Amino acid sequence: MFTGTSTQTDLQVRPDQMGLAFQAFRRTYPAFDSTQKLDELRLAEYSRLDQQEHVYLDYTGGALYAESQLREHLALLNDGIFGNPHSKNLTSMAMTHLVEQTREYILRYFNASPDEYTVIFTPNATGALKLVGESYPFGPGDQYLLTFDNHNSVNGIREFARGKGARVTYVPVLLPDLRADPDFLAQSLATARPGRNNLFAYPAQSNFTGVQHPLEWIAEAQSKGWDVLLDAAAFAPSNRLDLSRWHPDFVDISFYKIFGYPTGTGCLLARKTALQKLKRPWYSGGTLTFSSVVAFDHYLTPGSASFEDGTVNYLSIPAVEIGLRWIESIGIDMIHTRVMCLTGWLIDQLLALRHSNGRPLIRLYGPANIQARGGTVQVNFFDPDGRLFDCNDVERLANEERISLRAGCHCNPGAREVALGFTEETLAPCFRAKDRLTFEQFLHVIDGKTTGALRASIGLVTSFADVYKYVQFARTFIDRNAG
Ligand SMILES: Cc1ncc(COP(=O)(O)O)c(C=O)c1O
Repeated sequence: MFTGTSTQTDLQVRPDQMGLAFQAFRRTYPAFDSTQKLDELRLAEYSRLDQQEHVYLDYTGGALYAESQLREHLALLNDGIFGNPHSKNLTSMAMTHLVEQTREYILRYFNASPDEYTVIFTPNATGALKLVGESYPFGPGDQYLLTFDNHNSVNGIREFARGKGARVTYVPVLLPDLRADPDFLAQSLATARPGRNNLFAYPAQSNFTGVQHPLEWIAEAQSKGWDVLLDAAAFAPSNRLDLSRWHPDFVDISFYKIFGYPTGTGCLLARKTALQKLKRPWYSGGTLTFSSVVAFDHYLTPGSASFEDGTVNYLSIPAVEIGLRWIESIGIDMIHTRVMCLTGWLIDQLLALRHSNGRPLIRLYGPANIQARGGTVQVNFFDPDGRLFDCNDVERLANEERISLRAGCHCNPGAREVALGFTEETLAPCFRAKDRLTFEQFLHVIDGKTTGALRASIGLVTSFADVYKYVQFARTFIDRNAG
Protein backbone atom coordinates (compact mmCIF):
# COMPACT_ATOMS: atom_id res chain seq x y z
CA MET A 1 0.00 0.00 0.00
CA PHE A 2 0.96 3.61 -0.30
CA THR A 3 2.46 5.66 2.46
CA GLY A 4 2.01 9.40 2.74
CA THR A 5 -0.85 11.49 3.95
CA SER A 6 -3.72 9.83 2.18
CA THR A 7 -4.68 6.74 0.24
CA GLN A 8 -7.35 8.73 -1.58
CA THR A 9 -6.64 10.42 -4.87
CA ASP A 10 -7.26 14.12 -5.05
CA LEU A 11 -8.81 14.23 -8.45
CA GLN A 12 -10.25 17.46 -9.74
CA VAL A 13 -11.44 17.99 -13.25
CA ARG A 14 -11.85 21.70 -14.01
CA PRO A 15 -14.03 22.17 -17.11
CA ASP A 16 -12.18 25.34 -18.18
CA GLN A 17 -8.83 23.55 -18.09
CA MET A 18 -10.25 20.53 -19.86
CA GLY A 19 -11.61 22.89 -22.54
CA LEU A 20 -8.17 24.37 -23.10
CA ALA A 21 -6.59 20.93 -23.21
CA PHE A 22 -9.23 19.84 -25.72
CA GLN A 23 -8.41 22.77 -28.02
CA ALA A 24 -4.71 21.92 -27.85
CA PHE A 25 -5.51 18.25 -28.50
CA ARG A 26 -7.56 19.12 -31.59
CA ARG A 27 -4.70 21.18 -32.96
CA THR A 28 -2.27 18.27 -32.51
CA TYR A 29 -4.73 15.63 -33.71
CA PRO A 30 -6.95 17.45 -36.24
CA ALA A 31 -8.33 14.17 -37.60
CA PHE A 32 -10.28 13.81 -34.36
CA ASP A 33 -12.82 16.37 -35.61
CA SER A 34 -13.86 13.98 -38.36
CA THR A 35 -15.07 11.54 -35.69
CA GLN A 36 -17.61 13.87 -34.11
CA LYS A 37 -20.39 11.48 -35.05
CA LEU A 38 -19.13 9.19 -32.31
CA ASP A 39 -19.72 11.88 -29.68
CA GLU A 40 -23.29 12.15 -30.91
CA LEU A 41 -23.74 8.38 -30.85
CA ARG A 42 -22.33 8.24 -27.37
CA LEU A 43 -25.01 10.64 -26.18
CA ALA A 44 -27.77 8.81 -27.98
CA GLU A 45 -26.76 5.20 -27.55
CA TYR A 46 -24.37 4.96 -24.65
CA SER A 47 -25.88 7.61 -22.40
CA ARG A 48 -25.47 5.34 -19.38
CA LEU A 49 -21.78 6.19 -19.41
CA ASP A 50 -22.27 9.90 -18.78
CA GLN A 51 -25.34 9.44 -16.63
CA GLN A 52 -23.29 7.31 -14.28
CA GLU A 53 -20.21 9.51 -14.79
CA HIS A 54 -18.23 6.46 -15.72
CA VAL A 55 -14.91 6.51 -17.52
CA TYR A 56 -14.65 3.19 -19.32
CA LEU A 57 -11.13 2.40 -20.50
CA ASP A 58 -11.22 -1.37 -20.83
CA TYR A 59 -12.18 -1.90 -24.47
CA THR A 60 -9.58 -4.58 -25.00
CA GLY A 61 -11.35 -6.42 -22.21
CA GLY A 62 -14.69 -5.93 -23.94
CA ALA A 63 -16.42 -3.26 -26.00
CA LEU A 64 -19.63 -1.54 -24.92
CA TYR A 65 -22.93 -2.15 -26.69
CA ALA A 66 -25.30 0.45 -28.09
CA GLU A 67 -28.84 0.55 -26.73
CA SER A 68 -30.25 -0.03 -30.21
CA GLN A 69 -28.36 -3.32 -30.52
CA LEU A 70 -30.28 -4.62 -27.51
CA ARG A 71 -33.60 -3.26 -28.76
CA GLU A 72 -33.17 -4.79 -32.17
CA HIS A 73 -32.20 -8.17 -30.82
CA LEU A 74 -34.98 -8.21 -28.27
CA ALA A 75 -37.53 -7.30 -30.95
CA LEU A 76 -36.30 -10.18 -33.08
CA LEU A 77 -36.67 -12.62 -30.19
CA ASN A 78 -40.02 -11.19 -29.11
CA ASP A 79 -41.50 -11.45 -32.56
CA GLY A 80 -40.01 -14.75 -33.71
CA ILE A 81 -40.61 -18.36 -32.83
CA PHE A 82 -37.24 -19.98 -33.01
CA GLY A 83 -36.27 -23.56 -32.36
CA ASN A 84 -33.00 -25.45 -32.34
CA PRO A 85 -31.57 -25.16 -35.88
CA HIS A 86 -30.68 -27.95 -38.30
CA SER A 87 -34.01 -29.70 -38.45
CA LYS A 88 -36.75 -29.44 -41.00
CA ASN A 89 -39.56 -28.05 -38.87
CA LEU A 90 -40.63 -24.44 -39.39
CA THR A 91 -39.15 -22.93 -36.25
CA SER A 92 -35.91 -24.79 -36.74
CA MET A 93 -35.65 -23.71 -40.36
CA ALA A 94 -36.31 -20.09 -39.35
CA MET A 95 -33.38 -20.30 -36.98
CA THR A 96 -31.13 -22.11 -39.43
CA HIS A 97 -31.82 -19.32 -41.90
CA LEU A 98 -30.70 -16.65 -39.40
CA VAL A 99 -27.60 -18.59 -38.40
CA GLU A 100 -26.56 -19.06 -42.03
CA GLN A 101 -27.37 -15.44 -42.84
CA THR A 102 -25.08 -14.35 -39.99
CA ARG A 103 -22.33 -16.61 -41.26
CA GLU A 104 -22.57 -14.94 -44.67
CA TYR A 105 -22.64 -11.50 -43.07
CA ILE A 106 -19.45 -12.20 -41.15
CA LEU A 107 -17.69 -13.18 -44.37
CA ARG A 108 -18.89 -9.98 -46.04
CA TYR A 109 -17.83 -7.86 -43.06
CA PHE A 110 -14.28 -9.17 -43.28
CA ASN A 111 -14.37 -9.03 -47.07
CA ALA A 112 -13.66 -12.75 -47.19
CA SER A 113 -14.61 -14.66 -50.30
CA PRO A 114 -17.00 -17.54 -49.52
CA ASP A 115 -14.98 -19.57 -52.01
CA GLU A 116 -11.90 -19.11 -49.89
CA TYR A 117 -13.11 -18.81 -46.28
CA THR A 118 -15.66 -20.38 -44.02
CA VAL A 119 -17.02 -19.27 -40.64
CA ILE A 120 -17.15 -21.65 -37.70
CA PHE A 121 -19.10 -20.39 -34.70
CA THR A 122 -17.35 -20.78 -31.37
CA PRO A 123 -18.06 -19.48 -27.86
CA ASN A 124 -15.19 -16.98 -28.12
CA ALA A 125 -11.73 -16.43 -29.61
CA THR A 126 -10.31 -19.02 -27.25
CA GLY A 127 -12.76 -21.60 -28.58
CA ALA A 128 -11.55 -20.85 -32.11
CA LEU A 129 -7.91 -21.17 -31.08
CA LYS A 130 -8.55 -24.45 -29.32
CA LEU A 131 -10.22 -25.88 -32.43
CA VAL A 132 -7.06 -25.17 -34.41
CA GLY A 133 -4.74 -26.37 -31.64
CA GLU A 134 -6.41 -29.68 -31.01
CA SER A 135 -6.97 -30.45 -34.70
CA TYR A 136 -3.73 -29.29 -36.28
CA PRO A 137 -1.89 -32.44 -37.37
CA PHE A 138 1.27 -31.85 -35.35
CA GLY A 139 3.71 -34.72 -35.18
CA PRO A 140 7.44 -35.35 -34.74
CA GLY A 141 9.36 -33.19 -37.21
CA ASP A 142 6.59 -30.56 -37.27
CA GLN A 143 6.80 -27.09 -35.78
CA TYR A 144 4.78 -24.58 -33.82
CA LEU A 145 6.29 -21.10 -34.05
CA LEU A 146 4.83 -18.21 -32.07
CA THR A 147 5.74 -14.81 -30.75
CA PHE A 148 6.53 -14.17 -27.09
CA ASP A 149 3.76 -11.61 -27.33
CA ASN A 150 0.68 -13.81 -27.38
CA HIS A 151 -2.45 -14.39 -25.39
CA ASN A 152 -2.45 -17.52 -23.24
CA SER A 153 -5.05 -19.05 -25.49
CA VAL A 154 -2.44 -19.02 -28.28
CA ASN A 155 0.34 -20.09 -25.92
CA GLY A 156 -1.82 -23.03 -24.84
CA ILE A 157 -1.64 -24.54 -28.33
CA ARG A 158 1.97 -25.42 -27.51
CA GLU A 159 0.64 -28.16 -25.22
CA PHE A 160 -1.00 -29.87 -28.20
CA ALA A 161 2.16 -29.38 -30.27
CA ARG A 162 4.47 -30.63 -27.53
CA GLY A 163 2.22 -33.54 -26.68
CA LYS A 164 2.42 -34.75 -30.27
CA GLY A 165 6.19 -34.34 -30.51
CA ALA A 166 6.36 -31.12 -32.56
CA ARG A 167 9.03 -28.53 -31.89
CA VAL A 168 7.86 -25.29 -30.23
CA THR A 169 9.82 -22.07 -30.85
CA TYR A 170 9.16 -18.62 -29.45
CA VAL A 171 10.18 -15.48 -31.35
CA PRO A 172 11.37 -12.98 -28.72
CA VAL A 173 10.17 -9.40 -28.51
CA LEU A 174 12.68 -6.63 -27.96
CA LEU A 175 12.70 -3.66 -25.61
CA PRO A 176 11.74 -0.85 -25.63
CA ASP A 177 8.87 -1.19 -28.09
CA LEU A 178 8.34 -4.91 -27.53
CA ARG A 179 8.17 -5.69 -31.23
CA ALA A 180 9.33 -9.09 -32.48
CA ASP A 181 13.02 -9.61 -33.18
CA PRO A 182 13.09 -9.42 -37.01
CA ASP A 183 16.28 -11.46 -37.42
CA PHE A 184 15.08 -14.23 -35.15
CA LEU A 185 11.77 -14.30 -36.99
CA ALA A 186 13.42 -14.47 -40.42
CA GLN A 187 15.70 -17.29 -39.28
CA SER A 188 12.81 -19.19 -37.72
CA LEU A 189 10.60 -18.84 -40.78
CA ALA A 190 13.40 -20.28 -42.88
CA THR A 191 13.36 -23.51 -40.86
CA ALA A 192 10.03 -24.87 -42.10
CA ARG A 193 10.59 -28.35 -43.43
CA PRO A 194 8.87 -28.90 -46.75
CA GLY A 195 6.04 -31.37 -46.62
CA ARG A 196 5.79 -31.12 -42.83
CA ASN A 197 3.16 -29.34 -40.77
CA ASN A 198 4.35 -25.92 -39.70
CA LEU A 199 2.08 -23.55 -37.81
CA PHE A 200 2.98 -19.92 -37.10
CA ALA A 201 0.75 -17.95 -34.68
CA TYR A 202 0.83 -14.30 -33.73
CA PRO A 203 -1.52 -11.51 -32.71
CA ALA A 204 -2.40 -8.82 -35.25
CA GLN A 205 -2.46 -6.56 -32.21
CA SER A 206 -1.00 -7.24 -28.80
CA ASN A 207 -3.46 -7.12 -25.94
CA PHE A 208 -0.55 -6.16 -23.69
CA THR A 209 1.42 -3.49 -25.52
CA GLY A 210 -0.90 -2.54 -28.37
CA VAL A 211 1.87 -3.40 -30.86
CA GLN A 212 0.52 -4.27 -34.27
CA HIS A 213 2.67 -7.02 -35.70
CA PRO A 214 2.92 -6.77 -39.49
CA LEU A 215 0.22 -8.44 -41.53
CA GLU A 216 2.89 -8.79 -44.22
CA TRP A 217 4.23 -11.71 -42.20
CA ILE A 218 1.24 -13.78 -43.35
CA ALA A 219 2.26 -14.10 -47.00
CA GLU A 220 5.93 -14.22 -46.12
CA ALA A 221 5.43 -17.15 -43.76
CA GLN A 222 3.10 -18.96 -46.14
CA SER A 223 5.62 -18.64 -48.95
CA LYS A 224 8.11 -20.44 -46.71
CA GLY A 225 5.77 -23.32 -45.93
CA TRP A 226 3.88 -22.17 -42.83
CA ASP A 227 0.19 -22.21 -42.06
CA VAL A 228 -0.62 -18.92 -40.36
CA LEU A 229 -2.91 -18.48 -37.38
CA LEU A 230 -3.67 -14.78 -36.92
CA ASP A 231 -5.12 -13.86 -33.55
CA ALA A 232 -7.32 -10.88 -34.43
CA ALA A 233 -9.21 -10.67 -31.12
CA ALA A 234 -7.62 -7.36 -30.07
CA PHE A 235 -7.14 -6.00 -33.59
CA ALA A 236 -10.61 -6.32 -35.10
CA PRO A 237 -12.41 -3.91 -32.72
CA SER A 238 -10.72 -0.81 -34.11
CA ASN A 239 -8.98 -1.86 -37.31
CA ARG A 240 -10.09 -3.04 -40.71
CA LEU A 241 -9.23 -6.68 -41.30
CA ASP A 242 -9.62 -7.16 -45.04
CA LEU A 243 -9.41 -10.84 -45.90
CA SER A 244 -9.34 -10.10 -49.62
CA ARG A 245 -5.97 -8.45 -49.02
CA TRP A 246 -4.56 -10.66 -46.25
CA HIS A 247 -5.01 -14.40 -46.39
CA PRO A 248 -4.20 -15.99 -43.03
CA ASP A 249 -5.19 -19.64 -42.81
CA PHE A 250 -6.99 -19.21 -39.50
CA VAL A 251 -8.35 -16.13 -37.73
CA ASP A 252 -9.99 -16.07 -34.30
CA ILE A 253 -12.52 -13.45 -33.23
CA SER A 254 -14.56 -12.69 -30.10
CA PHE A 255 -17.55 -10.58 -31.10
CA TYR A 256 -18.12 -8.91 -27.72
CA LYS A 257 -14.71 -7.26 -28.16
CA ILE A 258 -15.96 -5.55 -31.33
CA PHE A 259 -19.45 -4.41 -30.30
CA GLY A 260 -20.03 -5.47 -26.70
CA TYR A 261 -23.08 -7.67 -27.11
CA PRO A 262 -23.60 -10.59 -27.15
CA THR A 263 -20.97 -12.39 -25.16
CA GLY A 264 -20.61 -16.11 -25.76
CA THR A 265 -20.16 -15.88 -29.53
CA GLY A 266 -16.94 -15.88 -31.48
CA CYS A 267 -15.76 -17.48 -34.64
CA LEU A 268 -12.93 -19.15 -36.43
CA LEU A 269 -12.52 -17.81 -39.94
CA ALA A 270 -10.72 -20.57 -41.75
CA ARG A 271 -9.46 -20.97 -45.26
CA LYS A 272 -11.21 -23.94 -46.73
CA THR A 273 -7.95 -25.46 -47.94
CA ALA A 274 -6.40 -25.13 -44.49
CA LEU A 275 -9.47 -26.58 -42.82
CA GLN A 276 -9.05 -29.78 -44.80
CA LYS A 277 -5.75 -30.29 -43.08
CA LEU A 278 -7.29 -30.30 -39.59
CA LYS A 279 -8.20 -33.59 -37.94
CA ARG A 280 -10.74 -33.38 -35.18
CA PRO A 281 -9.77 -35.46 -32.15
CA TRP A 282 -13.37 -36.42 -31.45
CA TYR A 283 -16.90 -36.07 -32.71
CA SER A 284 -20.05 -34.89 -31.03
CA GLY A 285 -23.66 -34.06 -31.63
CA GLY A 286 -23.87 -31.52 -34.42
CA THR A 287 -20.66 -32.54 -36.17
CA LEU A 288 -21.79 -35.77 -37.80
CA THR A 289 -23.79 -36.95 -40.74
CA PHE A 290 -23.94 -40.49 -39.41
CA SER A 291 -22.51 -42.57 -36.57
CA SER A 292 -23.00 -46.09 -35.34
CA VAL A 293 -22.51 -47.72 -31.99
CA VAL A 294 -22.69 -51.28 -33.26
CA ALA A 295 -20.37 -50.60 -36.20
CA PHE A 296 -18.20 -48.41 -34.01
CA ASP A 297 -17.73 -45.73 -36.67
CA HIS A 298 -18.89 -42.29 -37.77
CA TYR A 299 -18.87 -39.80 -40.64
CA LEU A 300 -18.09 -36.15 -39.92
CA THR A 301 -20.20 -33.58 -41.73
CA PRO A 302 -17.99 -31.93 -44.35
CA GLY A 303 -16.89 -28.31 -43.85
CA SER A 304 -17.53 -25.99 -40.94
CA ALA A 305 -20.32 -28.09 -39.38
CA SER A 306 -17.85 -30.74 -38.25
CA PHE A 307 -16.21 -28.10 -36.03
CA GLU A 308 -19.33 -26.82 -34.28
CA ASP A 309 -19.80 -29.08 -31.30
CA GLY A 310 -23.34 -29.49 -30.05
CA THR A 311 -25.91 -26.77 -30.42
CA VAL A 312 -24.54 -23.40 -31.45
CA ASN A 313 -25.52 -20.34 -29.41
CA TYR A 314 -28.38 -19.88 -31.82
CA LEU A 315 -30.43 -17.17 -30.16
CA SER A 316 -27.37 -14.95 -29.77
CA ILE A 317 -25.96 -15.47 -33.24
CA PRO A 318 -28.37 -13.06 -34.99
CA ALA A 319 -27.18 -10.34 -32.60
CA VAL A 320 -23.76 -10.70 -34.23
CA GLU A 321 -25.16 -9.45 -37.52
CA ILE A 322 -26.89 -6.61 -35.66
CA GLY A 323 -23.57 -5.70 -34.06
CA LEU A 324 -21.63 -5.85 -37.30
CA ARG A 325 -24.19 -3.69 -39.06
CA TRP A 326 -23.88 -1.22 -36.20
CA ILE A 327 -20.13 -0.99 -36.67
CA GLU A 328 -20.56 -0.63 -40.42
CA SER A 329 -23.05 2.18 -39.93
CA ILE A 330 -20.35 4.08 -38.05
CA GLY A 331 -17.42 2.92 -40.16
CA ILE A 332 -14.45 1.03 -38.77
CA ASP A 333 -12.09 3.64 -40.24
CA MET A 334 -13.74 6.37 -38.19
CA ILE A 335 -13.41 4.25 -35.06
CA HIS A 336 -9.76 3.65 -35.89
CA THR A 337 -9.07 7.36 -36.40
CA ARG A 338 -10.64 8.29 -33.10
CA VAL A 339 -8.88 5.55 -31.16
CA MET A 340 -5.50 6.56 -32.58
CA CYS A 341 -5.94 10.29 -31.87
CA LEU A 342 -6.91 9.65 -28.26
CA THR A 343 -4.18 7.04 -27.83
CA GLY A 344 -1.51 9.38 -29.13
CA TRP A 345 -2.60 12.15 -26.80
CA LEU A 346 -2.83 9.83 -23.79
CA ILE A 347 0.66 8.45 -24.37
CA ASP A 348 2.13 11.96 -24.79
CA GLN A 349 0.48 13.18 -21.61
CA LEU A 350 1.36 10.20 -19.44
CA LEU A 351 4.99 10.23 -20.53
CA ALA A 352 5.25 13.94 -19.77
CA LEU A 353 4.23 13.49 -16.12
CA ARG A 354 7.16 14.16 -13.78
CA HIS A 355 7.71 14.26 -10.04
CA SER A 356 9.19 17.46 -8.62
CA ASN A 357 12.62 15.85 -8.69
CA GLY A 358 12.27 15.40 -12.45
CA ARG A 359 11.85 11.63 -12.40
CA PRO A 360 9.09 10.20 -14.58
CA LEU A 361 5.88 9.02 -12.96
CA ILE A 362 5.05 6.48 -15.64
CA ARG A 363 6.85 3.67 -17.39
CA LEU A 364 5.17 2.73 -20.66
CA TYR A 365 5.36 -0.82 -21.99
CA GLY A 366 5.11 -0.62 -25.75
CA PRO A 367 5.65 1.94 -28.50
CA ALA A 368 5.71 5.57 -27.38
CA ASN A 369 4.06 6.80 -30.58
CA ILE A 370 1.12 5.74 -32.71
CA GLN A 371 3.05 4.05 -35.51
CA ALA A 372 1.93 0.43 -36.00
CA ARG A 373 0.14 0.16 -32.70
CA GLY A 374 -3.40 0.17 -31.40
CA GLY A 375 -5.25 1.79 -28.51
CA THR A 376 -3.84 -0.21 -25.62
CA VAL A 377 -1.71 1.83 -23.24
CA GLN A 378 0.09 -0.30 -20.67
CA VAL A 379 1.97 1.39 -17.84
CA ASN A 380 3.17 1.20 -14.28
CA PHE A 381 3.35 4.12 -11.90
CA PHE A 382 6.56 4.88 -9.94
CA ASP A 383 7.17 7.20 -7.02
CA PRO A 384 9.86 9.94 -6.83
CA ASP A 385 12.39 7.34 -5.60
CA GLY A 386 11.60 5.00 -8.45
CA ARG A 387 9.57 2.61 -6.33
CA LEU A 388 6.66 0.93 -7.98
CA PHE A 389 3.00 1.47 -7.11
CA ASP A 390 1.28 -1.90 -7.22
CA CYS A 391 -0.94 -1.83 -10.29
CA ASN A 392 -3.77 -3.50 -8.37
CA ASP A 393 -3.77 -0.65 -5.86
CA VAL A 394 -3.81 1.90 -8.65
CA GLU A 395 -6.72 0.10 -10.28
CA ARG A 396 -8.59 0.14 -6.98
CA LEU A 397 -8.01 3.88 -6.56
CA ALA A 398 -9.19 4.43 -10.11
CA ASN A 399 -12.40 2.61 -9.16
CA GLU A 400 -13.01 5.24 -6.53
CA GLU A 401 -13.01 7.82 -9.32
CA ARG A 402 -15.28 5.64 -11.47
CA ILE A 403 -12.50 4.96 -13.93
CA SER A 404 -12.38 1.37 -15.24
CA LEU A 405 -8.79 0.35 -16.00
CA ARG A 406 -7.43 -3.17 -15.89
CA ALA A 407 -4.50 -4.37 -13.80
CA GLY A 408 -2.67 -7.64 -14.25
CA CYS A 409 -0.74 -9.63 -16.81
CA HIS A 410 -3.67 -9.67 -19.24
CA CYS A 411 -3.15 -13.34 -20.08
CA ASN A 412 -0.01 -12.39 -21.98
CA PRO A 413 2.87 -13.71 -19.87
CA GLY A 414 5.50 -13.43 -22.63
CA ALA A 415 5.05 -9.69 -23.21
CA ARG A 416 4.77 -9.13 -19.48
CA GLU A 417 7.95 -11.04 -18.72
CA VAL A 418 10.01 -9.09 -21.22
CA ALA A 419 8.41 -5.78 -20.20
CA LEU A 420 9.00 -6.34 -16.50
CA GLY A 421 12.38 -8.03 -16.83
CA PHE A 422 11.49 -11.53 -15.63
CA THR A 423 14.16 -14.03 -16.63
CA GLU A 424 14.01 -17.78 -16.90
CA GLU A 425 16.24 -17.97 -13.81
CA THR A 426 13.75 -15.90 -11.80
CA LEU A 427 10.77 -17.92 -12.87
CA ALA A 428 12.14 -21.46 -13.12
CA PRO A 429 11.86 -22.07 -9.34
CA CYS A 430 8.13 -21.28 -9.55
CA PHE A 431 7.57 -24.31 -11.72
CA ARG A 432 9.74 -26.85 -9.94
CA ALA A 433 7.00 -27.82 -7.52
CA LYS A 434 4.19 -26.50 -9.58
CA ASP A 435 1.43 -28.50 -7.97
CA ARG A 436 2.14 -26.83 -4.70
CA LEU A 437 3.00 -23.23 -5.57
CA THR A 438 0.34 -20.81 -4.42
CA PHE A 439 0.07 -17.29 -5.79
CA GLU A 440 1.48 -15.94 -2.52
CA GLN A 441 4.49 -18.24 -2.84
CA PHE A 442 4.90 -17.05 -6.42
CA LEU A 443 5.00 -13.44 -5.18
CA HIS A 444 7.64 -14.47 -2.71
CA VAL A 445 9.79 -16.02 -5.45
CA ILE A 446 9.61 -12.91 -7.62
CA ASP A 447 10.39 -10.79 -4.55
CA GLY A 448 10.04 -7.08 -5.19
CA LYS A 449 8.78 -7.38 -8.74
CA THR A 450 5.27 -6.53 -9.80
CA THR A 451 3.16 -9.26 -11.31
CA GLY A 452 1.66 -7.00 -13.92
CA ALA A 453 0.81 -3.56 -15.17
CA LEU A 454 -2.10 -1.21 -15.63
CA ARG A 455 -3.86 -1.20 -18.96
CA ALA A 456 -6.03 1.55 -20.38
CA SER A 457 -7.65 0.57 -23.65
CA ILE A 458 -9.45 2.98 -25.87
CA GLY A 459 -12.35 2.10 -28.12
CA LEU A 460 -15.53 2.85 -29.96
CA VAL A 461 -17.01 5.62 -27.81
CA THR A 462 -14.08 6.82 -25.77
CA SER A 463 -14.26 10.59 -25.47
CA PHE A 464 -11.60 13.19 -24.90
CA ALA A 465 -13.06 13.71 -21.42
CA ASP A 466 -12.39 10.04 -20.61
CA VAL A 467 -8.70 10.16 -21.37
CA TYR A 468 -8.41 13.62 -19.82
CA LYS A 469 -9.86 12.29 -16.57
CA TYR A 470 -7.41 9.39 -16.59
CA VAL A 471 -4.51 11.80 -16.99
CA GLN A 472 -5.83 13.93 -14.11
CA PHE A 473 -6.07 10.78 -12.03
CA ALA A 474 -2.47 9.88 -12.90
CA ARG A 475 -1.38 13.37 -11.84
CA THR A 476 -2.55 12.69 -8.30
CA PHE A 477 0.41 10.29 -7.96
CA ILE A 478 2.96 13.05 -8.53
CA ASP A 479 5.26 13.36 -5.53
CA ARG A 480 3.46 10.57 -3.74
CA ASN A 481 5.32 7.75 -2.01
CA ALA A 482 4.80 4.08 -2.71
CA GLY A 483 5.25 1.89 0.33
C1 LIG B 1 -5.29 -10.85 -28.26
C2 LIG B 1 -6.29 -11.75 -27.62
N1 LIG B 1 -6.42 -13.00 -28.04
C3 LIG B 1 -7.30 -13.85 -27.52
C4 LIG B 1 -8.12 -13.46 -26.50
C5 LIG B 1 -9.10 -14.43 -25.92
O1 LIG B 1 -10.41 -13.95 -26.06
P1 LIG B 1 -11.60 -14.67 -25.30
O2 LIG B 1 -11.29 -14.56 -23.83
O3 LIG B 1 -12.80 -13.88 -25.69
O4 LIG B 1 -11.64 -16.06 -25.75
C6 LIG B 1 -8.03 -12.16 -25.99
C7 LIG B 1 -8.85 -11.72 -24.86
O5 LIG B 1 -8.65 -10.69 -24.26
C8 LIG B 1 -7.09 -11.28 -26.59
O6 LIG B 1 -6.97 -10.02 -26.17
